[in-house]
Amino acid sequence: MILLILFFLTSCKYSATKVTVVGAGNVGATAANVLAINEVASEVVLIDIKEGLAEGKAMDIMQTAQLVGFDTIVKGVTNDYTLTANSDVVVITSGVPRKPGMTREELLGVNAKIVKSVVENLIKYSPEAIFVVVANPMDAMTHLTLKLTGLPRNRVIGMGGLLDSSRFKYYLSQALGCNHNDVHGIVIGGHGDKTMIPLARYATYKGIPVSTLLPKEKIDEVVKATMVGGATLTKLLGTSAWIAPGASISHLVESIVKDQKKLIPCSVYLQGEYGLKDITIGVPVVVGRNGVEKIIPMDLSEEELELFNKSAKAVKEYDLDGLRVDTVPEVPKWFWKRFNKECGIFQIGEVFNGNEKYVHSYQGPLTSTFNYPLYFHIGDAFKDRDLKILDDYYSRQRPVFQEGNFTEVLDL
Ligand code: 2OP
Repeated sequence: MILLILFFLTSCKYSATKVTVVGAGNVGATAANVLAINEVASEVVLIDIKEGLAEGKAMDIMQTAQLVGFDTIVKGVTNDYTLTANSDVVVITSGVPRKPGMTREELLGVNAKIVKSVVENLIKYSPEAIFVVVANPMDAMTHLTLKLTGLPRNRVIGMGGLLDSSRFKYYLSQALGCNHNDVHGIVIGGHGDKTMIPLARYATYKGIPVSTLLPKEKIDEVVKATMVGGATLTKLLGTSAWIAPGASISHLVESIVKDQKKLIPCSVYLQGEYGLKDITIGVPVVVGRNGVEKIIPMDLSEEELELFNKSAKAVKEYDLDGLRVDTVPEVPKWFWKRFNKECGIFQIGEVFNGNEKYVHSYQGPLTSTFNYPLYFHIGDAFKDRDLKILDDYYSRQRPVFQEGNFTEVLDL
C-alpha cells in the first residue's frame, strides 16, 4: 500500500505544476501560450494590472486547446494575486517595453517600481517559487528581485542569455547557410546591446569550431548583429520582440519544472565565480527543480575576460541604480525636455541628488496629460548629447516643463 502511494506521488510529480506569468503583454502572453502548447505546466496563471487583458489572452489561448491538443489550463486575472498562490515558478515580464532607438537600460526607473510591487505580491502568495525575471533592464531587475525577496540565489534567475544565444545561433546559421539546429553558441555578460558577449571562439557547427569555417570579418558581423538583435527587432516591429522571448521563457521554465538540468546562460548572482561578487550577470548555469543548480566556469581568453569585466562594470552600475527605486522622487524638478523623433516619445530631464542625472519620458500624444512618468537613467548611448542639452537648460535656470502641460515641444 505504502509503495502504491509512493508510486502515485512520484508519478504525480510533474502533473500539478503551477506557473504564474506576470504581465499579459506580448512577451507574457506568448510565454503562456508556449507553456501551454508544450504542456510545461498543468496550470498557467496570467496576471496583469490592465482590466480584462489577462482574462482575454488566457481565454484566447484556451480556445486553441482542442485545436492544438493541450491539457494545460490557462487562467487570466486582473491584479488578484490570490489566484497565483502556491506557484512553482513565477515569471516577471511586467514593465514597459523599449521603443525603437531606446536601450534596455533606459527603462530602469519605471520598471524597477513595477517589479518592486509585483515581487512583493508574488513572494507573499508563492513563498516557495523559483523567480524568473524577464523585465528590462533584465540583469538589474534580477538583482532587485533577489534583494527584495531575500531568497537564496538559486531561486532567482534572469532570462536573457538564452534568448541572446538563440539569436547568436540564428545569425551563425545564416552565415554558415546551414541547418539552424546544427549550430551551438553561447552568449554571456549583460543582456544589453553593449554588455552582451557572444563567445565566437566557443561556437561550433556540430562540434567544428566556426572560426575554421567562417572568415573573421563574417564572425565579427555575426557578433555585432547578435548584440543588437533585440534592437533590430524593436526597430522592425515598433516595439520589443516577443516570440523568441516567450519561447525562451518556456524553455527555461521547462528545465526547472521537469528538472531537466539543461545548461542555459542565465543572469545569476555571483559570489566569487568568474572573479565577481554581488552582481547578477549572464553565465552558463545548470537549471533544474532547484533553479540554479550549478554555475559552470568557462575558460575565457584575455580578450574575453576583458569584455566580461567591462560588461560587469556597466551591469553593476545599473544593479545599484535599480536598488534606488525608492529614492527616485515622485515629483522631481524638471529642467529640460525634448521630443525624441526616433522613438516617438517625449522626454524631460532633471538633476537631483547632486550629480545624478535622470531622463523622464512620457509616451503618447504630446498634447495630452500623462498619467505616469517613466524614469530613465541616461545610458551611454546618448549621454554626451543629452548632458549638453541638460547643462544648457540648467545654466539658464529655466524650467521648461509644467506637470500636466505638454504642449510646448522642443524639437531637436
Ligand atoms: C529582447 O531582447 C525583450 O529584452 C528582450 O527582445
